[in-house]
Amino acid sequence: MQVASFDNYAKNYDDHFTFSLVGLMQRHAVYSLLMPLLNNKSRVLEINCGTGKDALEIGKYTLSVLATDASTKMIELCKAKNNSAANVSFKVNLIQDLNEEIKNSNFIFSNFGGLNCLSPQEFAEFADKCKALLNTQADLFFVIMGRKCIWERLYFKFKGDQKKANRRDSTIGVETLINGSEFKTWYYSPKEIANFFGTEFKMVHTSGVGLFVPPSYLNPFFSNKKFLLKLLNGLDKLFCKFSWTANYADHFIIHLKKIN
Ligand SMILES: C[S@@+](CC[C@H](N)C(=O)[O-])C[C@H]1O[C@@H](n2cnc3c(N)ncnc32)[C@H](O)[C@@H]1O
Repeated sequence: MQVASFDNYAKNYDDHFTFSLVGLMQRHAVYSLLMPLLNNKSRVLEINCGTGKDALEIGKYTLSVLATDASTKMIELCKAKNNSAANVSFKVNLIQDLNEEIKNSNFIFSNFGGLNCLSPQEFAEFADKCKALLNTQADLFFVIMGRKCIWERLYFKFKGDQKKANRRDSTIGVETLINGSEFKTWYYSPKEIANFFGTEFKMVHTSGVGLFVPPSYLNPFFSNKKFLLKLLNGLDKLFCKFSWTANYADHFIIHLKKIN
């Protein structure tokens, strides 16, 4: 079951991803585009917030943050980290069950693939709620695992694992292992996401995160090659300004605005 996998993973998540070199580089790339969009009128709903790093950071610039996640263990860790931010609250909530929370927000944020845990039908239902419940001018800022990650294709091809090299092409949920627990992942292209939201939303921006910087499962390989990783990060800073990178990177950012 999806949630159980993330409950099991929660206590190792920050070590494995948040504070890994790849994790820090990819997150910093997200912040460089996210933070300038926020201000003291932003009422942010963060979905799939994980261990809460983003919510606490975002809270410094915004009126309020309600950060939600399906995993009780993740939310326990978030609450333990929140010493003083009165405008940031955390709550256990499935994306599929959000209603009032969407209505009360003007900015919905999802980082690093939580939305890849939704099937196409669940995604379409979430998009329909955003269409019905959000006011005009509301922003959606999502970071999603894309379909054509060049790193992943080359890495698994090189290892002779054709199935994994092509797994992001699949239109059905792909069985994924984290920390020994299985859950399903659905991969999406920027175009597929824009289609869920239709003409009620306009695409403001899309670009890649992790085109040269590799996916986080390559962290161990790069742990003694920090200089090389810094070089790759420099290339990402140069190239990930362009929208075409969204199609080939590990993750992509998509920023949509409600227009009617
Ligand atoms: C890869 S982690 C990303 C966490 C965090 N956003 C970050 O940037 O590190 C994915 C998160 O999505 C959550 N998640 C998965 N399916 C979900 C669902 N249907 N509703 C809410 N959260 C979900 C998991 O519990 C997990 O914390």
